[in-house]
Amino acid sequence: MTVLIDPSDEAQIEFVLEQLLADSPIGMPTETVYGLAARALSPVALARIFELKARPTFDPLIVHVENLEQALSRGLIEKPSSLQERLAHKFWPGPLTILFQKTALVPDLCTASMPFVALRSPEHPVFQKIMKALGEPLAAPSANRFKSISPTDAQAVVQELGPYGLVAVVEGGTAQRGIESTVVKVLSEAKLEIVRQGALSREELASFLGSSVEIVVRQSGSGVEISHDAPGQSEVHYAPQKPLYLLQENELSSFVQTQASSGAALLEVFPQKEELKWDGLRVCLSENRSWAEAASRLFSELRRLDQNVEIKCIVAIACEEESLGAAIMDRLCRAAQKR
Ligand code: TXA
Ligand code: MG
Repeated sequence: MTVLIDPSDEAQIEFVLEQLLADSPIGMPTETVYGLAARALSPVALARIFELKARPTFDPLIVHVENLEQALSRGLIEKPSSLQERLAHKFWPGPLTILFQKTALVPDLCTASMPFVALRSPEHPVFQKIMKALGEPLAAPSANRFKSISPTDAQAVVQELGPYGLVAVVEGGTAQRGIESTVVKVLSEAKLEIVRQGALSREELASFLGSSVEIVVRQSGSGVEISHDAPGQSEVHYAPQKPLYLLQENELSSFVQTQASSGAALLEVFPQKEELKWDGLRVCLSENRSWAEAASRLFSELRRLDQNVEIKCIVAIACEEESLGAAIMDRLCRAAQKR
């Protein structure tokens, strides 16, 4: 049985620290999604994360740090470039993960033997509190089984990993962002690559960086499962158990005619511009067209539809790929891939 930890109870936090010190992974809240955290510099702890998630070891883990200074003083990374430093100082703590040249201290298991380690400082006060008390960086992938939907509340973590022996999850409310961090790689002082779209939009990065830094987005889900340093971007990911069809708005009426729509649930990001006839269950992620609200509800609504016994399949309508719509579409496309 997975224990639910109350973070305001010091004795329970003490138990969490003991477990982490004993290399046992713990479910912990972040502002993006819940993570499965364990000591980043312990190969045994890392191996347990991979085992609990049934995650292949070619998919590297994000290491969570208090701040850039801790990463440097603990000797995790080589000297950062000025752009890496500016990004960390501007967006940490927050939903931006930055790749850095790693040192030999970081186990190869953490980075899938690649020379870069992905670092971020999470904004959630409970995560920060536990990390500070431990005084060590924590590796933490999303706390779901491999390819499954990322959990955005403690209950979802228990559902995902409880059956496989997760010891405890720390309660931290609903993840405010609801979608994973944006992962970036600094290619030069004038070029930044978005390796994974996420909770920090390209537009927000661009408005900070100005026109002197070009931002390129790595085409993911392109069929190349693992390229040298674009691991973990497998085509099928974030997937519900039920079939998910991703349609353009104008494809919907012919879909409704050709498929028996009974048992299909409609998932729309924003309300459709045209009046739409739909007899079944219909979920709109944000009635007042807020990207932040839509992103924060995406995974929890997918999970709810997946668990609703009356629903046979999910029909999602594509949204604009602007702002957080880019990350939402990335997740929907992967969820829709045939397995
Ligand atoms: O918001 C988040 O980032 C959450 C919370 C818990 O922090 N974590 C998360 O971790 O989403 P995970 O393991 O589900 O996704 C990590 C992804 C990898 O699949 C890969 O795409 C990228 O981050 N990544 C990690 N380390 C990398 C590395 N060394 N080089 C390139 N990409 C890396
Ligand atoms: Mg994940």
